[in-house]
Amino acid sequence: AIVAVIFDLDGVIVSTDDKHYEAWLSISREEGIPFDRTINDRLRGVSRMESLGIILEQAERPYTEQEREALADRKNSCYQELLAGITEADLLPGVRDTLAELKRRGIRAAIGSSSKNARLILSRLGITGDFDIIVDGNDIMRSKPDPEVFVTAAARLGAAPAACLVVEDAEAGIAAAVAAHMTPVAIGPACGSPLAQFQIQSLHELPALLE
Ligand code: G6P
Ligand code: MG
Repeated sequence: AIVAVIFDLDGVIVSTDDKHYEAWLSISREEGIPFDRTINDRLRGVSRMESLGIILEQAERPYTEQEREALADRKNSCYQELLAGITEADLLPGVRDTLAELKRRGIRAAIGSSSKNARLILSRLGITGDFDIIVDGNDIMRSKPDPEVFVTAAARLGAAPAACLVVEDAEAGIAAAVAAHMTPVAIGPACGSPLAQFQIQSLHELPALLE
């Protein structure tokens, strides 16, 4: 039986895709690097520095490590300014109902995110306390598709991987869940992933998977 659900944050709990996109777009424009939604789609679930690496594939010149750090910092400042405007309305459909239903059933809830802004976002939304465990980009060495984030969350929950469900909107996250020997549930853009065991349109469909 499933004892815990580990949720990715961006694109599963909260809609931040557009804010990440806008922040990367403004940096790309300043640098004169081509960037669009198709490239942005490849950044889902990928760490900040790895995302920058993907964007710089389009650059006309090489960037030094120091320049990369500076660009990543600029992107994050821009992203954090956009996060200041985050509200309840950015919560994805079914979040509150689903968390309440898990609680009723005695199933624990965790966050497993690549983002170093996860705690900031959760606290802005006032939902930090709704999760038993939060593991984010500050707690791990290797980002998805490496299973580290989910393995760490399960260990902190004291849950066997086979008893954990992972909800993910990113292909890299689904692959990470598989590598962690957990049950992957695809939502949104990850739907259609051949590795996903379940596909859902919104979190409203999650409780039915636990029956
Ligand atoms: C999530 C998002 C990615 C983002 C990553 C790092 O996985 O889906 O698009 O690059 O977090 O986010 P951060 O807030 O640390 O820059
Ligand atoms: Mg995501």
